This record gives sequence, C-alpha cells and structure tokens, in this order.
Amino acid sequence: MKYKTLKGLQDILPPEIRAWQHIEATARDIFRAYGYQEIRLPILESTDIFIRSIGETSDIVEKEMYTFQDKGGRSVTLRPEGTASFVRAYVEHHLHNNPAPQKFYYMGPMFRYERPQAYRYRQFYQIGAEAMGIEDPRLDAEIISMLARILHGIGLEGLNFELTSIGCKGCRPAYREALRDFLGDRLSSFCSDCQRRYELNPLRILDCKVPECITARKGSPPVLHYLCAECKTHFDSLKHNLDLLKVPHTVNPNLVRGLDYYTKTAFEVTSESLGSQKAVAAGGRYDGLVDEFGGPPTPGIGFAMGMERIIPLLKSSDTASGPELFICPLNQEAAEKAFLIAEELRTRGLWVESNYESASLKSQMRKANRISAENVVVFGGDELKNKQVVIKNMIDKSEVSVNLVVDEFIKILRKIGSR
Ligand code: HAM
Repeated sequence: MKYKTLKGLQDILPPEIRAWQHIEATARDIFRAYGYQEIRLPILESTDIFIRSIGETSDIVEKEMYTFQDKGGRSVTLRPEGTASFVRAYVEHHLHNNPAPQKFYYMGPMFRYERPQAYRYRQFYQIGAEAMGIEDPRLDAEIISMLARILHGIGLEGLNFELTSIGCKGCRPAYREALRDFLGDRLSSFCSDCQRRYELNPLRILDCKVPECITARKGSPPVLHYLCAECKTHFDSLKHNLDLLKVPHTVNPNLVRGLDYYTKTAFEVTSESLGSQKAVAAGGRYDGLVDEFGGPPTPGIGFAMGMERIIPLLKSSDTASGPELFICPLNQEAAEKAFLIAEELRTRGLWVESNYESASLKSQMRKANRISAENVVVFGGDELKNKQVVIKNMIDKSEVSVNLVVDEFIKILRKIGSR
C-alpha cells in the first residue's frame, strides 16, 4: 500500500466511534451538572506559550513538541496539551472578569513526539476541564469527584486515585535545596539531561524515565515533608473533603507531574490494566499560571483524561456498534412494510436497517450478525397477515412477540436497548 498513517497516529474507524461518542456524551452530561462550559481552542499556538508554562526543562518542551516555522517565519507548535492554550485564552478574553469559579471543558487532539507504544500515541485525544478563581480545597475535591463520576459513568471500575501536594512558590525553594543536596552526591550516575536539569530545575530529575536515573534517585526526600503550613492545611482539607464526597483515594508521595506549572494539589488516576502507560487521567492546581501569562493572579485547577487509555478499559457492551434493529423481509410486500417501518422508527431516533433486495432468511441473518445488529425481526407472509412479529435479541437470544405497530417496537427496543 502506498500511503499510510504516520507513526504514532491512528484513524478512528466507525466501529470504534460509538465508544468515543459514549465517553464524550457521558462527560458532557456530567460537566453540565457541575457547571462546566465548553471552550474550543486552536490546535496551533505560538511556541512561547508552551515553553513558558510547561517549562523549558520538561520532556515535552525539550523533546516532544511538533514545532515548526509558519510561512510568516513565526515559531508555532501543535498543542501538546490543553491547559497552556486554555490559560492563554482565559487571559486574552478577560474571562477572569466573570464571577468565580469559572469552569470550562474541552475535547480534542493533542500532539507529542513521543516514542509510540501501547496506549501512547503522537496524536492523542484528551477531554480536559479547568476551574478558575477559587483557592479553596473544596474545589479540588469537587473536580476530582467530578472526574470520578465521569469515569464511573463511562463504565470504568477498579481505578486508583493517587494524589499528593507539590507545594507552592513559598515552600518550593527549601525543597529544591534538599533535593539538590541529595542528588548532588550521586550526580555522575544520572544521564546527561539530568545533569543539566540539576543546575536548571532539579525537580525535573524526578520525572526522568531513564532506568539509571530511576535507580539513582531512589530515597530522595519526599516533597510532602517540605510543605509550608498553608500547603499542608490545604492538602489535609482536600483529603477530608474527598472523604466527605466518598471518593476513595491514596496519597502517593512519589507522584511527579511532567509539567512545570503545578502548585499544591497534583493527582493521577491509574489503571493496572494499562501496563507502563497507566495514567488514564491526570491534573492538578496551577495557582501561578494566569499571573505568568500576564493576567491578574488567579488560582486554577484542572485535569485531562486520555481517550486512547479509556477505550481499551471499556466493556464490550459499551462499545457495541450495530443498529438497534435489523428487519428481514421475506417477500416484496414485506419489503415495502419494512421500508416504511424502518423510516418511522428512524424518525423516533432508533438506528434501523433492513434489506433492500429480497434474499433468503439465512443470508439476511448472516448480514444482521456481520453488522452487529442488536435485534432482528422477520417480516414474512404470516407476520403481515396476523400483524404479529417476534423481535429477537441477538445478544441474549431472548424473544418478544409484539403487534406490528411502531409504538410497540419502540417500547420493546428502548427497554432492551442499551442507549
Ligand atoms: P498529562 O498528564 O500530560 O496532563 O496528560 C493527561 C492525560 O493525557 C494522561 O493521563 C494520559 O491519559 C493522556 N496522555 C498523555 N500523553 C499521551 C500520549 N502520548 N498518548 C495517549 N495518551 C496520552 C496534561 O496534559 C495536563 N494539561 C492536564 C491538566 C489540565 N492539568 C491541569 N489541567
């Protein structure tokens, strides 16, 4: 074959789309209940905004950005994540003038030039949420609880909610020094990138994926021991509020985020079924970022979940992709009736297919199976005469006899259908 998708990119074909739409629809419903409104942002941004926010020494900025010059000679980048673009828009449109909290969500593709592997792509899709203007840890608990409800609503179970606090501008210098002291003694064991990071931003060494660096940094001081009183109270209150909302969670003092903008709360939702790329969603607080982008000091918190990591965790019942009903007509008169009933059922919102040409029952059933029809009904001479048909569920093989009336079909299909 001559042309193929680029490495690390993929086409999402119709059989998988139902799962994608199920995730998006569930998220939209839950976002609405929590007052989050959709924001759509450009995919291409000025490179500076990512360097400024994600951090010069982060892996994303150092190695993974799709950056190029446009025809006007500007350096532009395909967004590697959504928060930087969002904060740019938040400041540009003075959204801070609206009453706090201002809450937003977005869905769309992100681009990172990473080494592709299972569940890790170069173009991947995130659903993200950002809440602005409130420092209170109850907002942190609320957004984590919302994330839990979305993931549960999608059908995921057995996820771990891991959290930590990584301190603020006030307590970070003492921590950075403690870390530098610890790492300084064994600097020669680290990769050359980490040796450079030691000077520029030693915290980034904690995020290095090189095996020798992972070994060499074992036993490094945990950031939780260096929190100032304010950060400690904030973190304790977050845990208390998560308990109140009954969101199970664990503290993971070794949790490191790959982006520099975080302050205080940081969290990750992981699944053991995903191997080394186990983060299904992740986020945290970024109380200094709006300031950094030239806006008034405004706290913020958010998360993003990765679609390509959620899809493989869904049960097949959530991802079935066939019509709700396949009608098999056995003669010309039945074909016309099928044609008519299919149209009426579609106007009522059901996905219905039928055979256009006459064919044997066997071949029609084979087709219904191939297109994963959830239910099948046969229209033959007897059925039309008696105005009675049998709707057969192809998944659990149950059968229901109904009158040949659209309303009765709807009642039955809505009851046995999964949507
Ligand atoms: P992140 O941890 O870089 O955070 O990414 C969030 C999620 O995106 C990950 O947990 C993962 O599910 C998914 N993801 C990341 N990289 C890939 C990849 N190469 N292939 C597939 N999935 C991937 C952020 O992006 C922050 N902007 C989240 C945030 C929002 N923090 C505050 N607000």
